[in-house]
Amino acid sequence: MIAALLLVLSAPSRAQTAVGDAVRGKQVFQLCAACHDIAPVPDTMPQGPPLAGIVGRGIGTVSGFDYSASLMELARQERLWSLALLDRYLAAPWRLAPRTTMSFPGLSNDQERADVIAFLETL
Ligand code: HEC
Repeated sequence: MIAALLLVLSAPSRAQTAVGDAVRGKQVFQLCAACHDIAPVPDTMPQGPPLAGIVGRGIGTVSGFDYSASLMELARQERLWSLALLDRYLAAPWRLAPRTTMSFPGLSNDQERADVIAFLETL
């Protein structure tokens, strides 16, 4: 029973090296929540764009959000937020988008990244 539950929780993140846990990822997401709304229909646009449906979504495609030129350059190169690209971005946002306006240093811990990405997949 517990093994089955663990399998279900970890299944979405098989693309990462570390196996993500969406329940733990929800906790990690507290680091992002001040800037990112996750409601399907966001009623506010805090500092960052809403993240509902972010996995597989086009990079920089929330209409009305003023993305940096750096992120739009990344969008031209990569187009979509794959699991692998999210993993690279969240490790060090400024490395992929040097002048990004996301003032967040990144998550250096592989497990925390896998967990938060597993949580993003549930949105
Ligand atoms: C201090 C505010 C802030 C924090 C904290 C923050 N972000 Fe962001 N985030 C932003 C801003 C601003 C942008 C737009 C960046 C740009 O245009 O360069 C952004 C962009 C993004 C994007 C790209 C969205 C798109 O529409 O293409 C993702 C994915 C993302 N953030 C995920 C996260 C995650 C996950 C966390 C927590 C681990 C986090 N962010 C923490 C402000 C923040």
